[in-house]
Order: sequence, then C-alpha cells, then structure tokens
Amino acid sequence: MPSERREVTLRFLAEPADVNFGGKVHGGILMKWIDQAGYACASGWSGSYCVTAYVGGIAFEQPVAIGHLVEVRARIALTGRTSMHIAVDVFSRGLRETQWVRTTHCLIVFVAMDEAGRPQPVPAWTPESDADRLLAAYAGDMKAHSAQLEALRASWLAPMDGGR
Ligand SMILES: CC(C)(COP(=O)(O)OP(=O)(O)OC[C@H]1O[C@@H](n2cnc3c(N)ncnc32)[C@H](O)[C@@H]1OP(=O)(O)O)[C@@H](O)C(=O)NCCC(=O)NCCS
Repeated sequence: MPSERREVTLRFLAEPADVNFGGKVHGGILMKWIDQAGYACASGWSGSYCVTAYVGGIAFEQPVAIGHLVEVRARIALTGRTSMHIAVDVFSRGLRETQWVRTTHCLIVFVAMDEAGRPQPVPAWTPESDADRLLAAYAGDMKAHSAQLEALRASWLAPMDGGR
C-alpha cells in the first residue's frame, strides 16, 4: 500500500454561516470537518465505505476565527483487523498570515464495511519513521484507555437506562 494514501488534508474557509454564539467557528462545524477528513483518509486507505466507530480525546485547544483558512489533516496512526485509528489535527491562520496555529486534535476510529454492511479487513499500516512509531504508540495507548472508559460508561449507563 503506497504510504502517500495514508494521509488526507482538506482546507476550508471559515465563513459567516459557520459562526457560534460567541462569534467563532461552531464546534459542530469543526467536528463535521474532522469527520469528513477522517472519512476521506479511511476510505482511501481501505478502498471501501467506512463508518465512524469512535471519536476519542477531542480537544478544542484554540478558537477558530471566522474568515480564517482552516486546514484539517488526517493520518492513519494505527490499523487493526477492520479498524483504522486516524489522528486528526486542525490548524488555522488568517488569510494574510503565514503561521498556522493548531486549534483542535482528536483520534477517530473508522471501520471498513463490505457491501453487506459487515466489518471487513483493511490493509495494515506499517510505521516508517520514528514519528510514525510514536503516533502508533500513542494511538495504541489511547485504544487501551478508551476500552477502560467504555467499560466505565457501560457500568454507569446500565442503571440509568433501566430508569427510562
Ligand atoms: C462500528 C461497528 C460497525 C462495529 O460493529 P461490531 O459489531 O462491534 O463489529 P466488530 O466487533 O467486528 O468490530 C469491528 C471493529 O470495530 C472496532 N470497534 C467497535 N466498536 C468500537 C469502539 N467503540 N471503539 C473503537 N473501536 C471499536 C473493533 O475493535 C473492531 O476493530 P478490529 O477489527 O480492528 O479489531 C458498529 O458498531 C456500527 O455500525 N456502529 C454505528 C456506526 C455509525 O453509525 N457511525 C456514524 C455514522 S458513519
């Protein structure tokens, strides 16, 4: 699998329709852009339709101003049998500026689906550089912790769901 297929970068112009109540880009718009970049990356890597299984560790580090150029960079960090763990970073800058500022980061898990709607195997990603290996270790660590969080979530939701 060519390693250039491992990464997708999308760019958007933050426009007035994207505004939140505080005058900056709405968090939901950022999440949509993150999901689009992640989907393009996952689908390109696997060669199939993919679904979002999990969004983890999302951090809105800086607000994004309306009128700024926004770059959303999605990279395969780790692959499982049918899943792809994708690191997404969002950067923004004013149109007349040169310095990009990272505003948001998260890890998303996509699962490749076959035509019958079942998870299907994906090509394995083999880290090539020290930076790739660091990213894969980070995604593996986050995966282990999200499994713990998932068990915690299930244990709290079960009694609450019973009260519905
Ligand atoms: C994601 C989904 C296909 C997984 O189905 P499933 O029956 O759990 O399938 P499997 O047990 O075979 O798991 C498939 C893969 O998903 C991963 N996965 C499932 N749930 C996960 C979760 N909560 N977090 C991270 N990975 C998850 C599994 O680890 C497995 O990965 P692997 O094959 O690399 O080991 C299913 O839960 C689903 O369809 N969810 C809804 C997706 C959706 O509507 N997304 C929003 C719109 S795209």
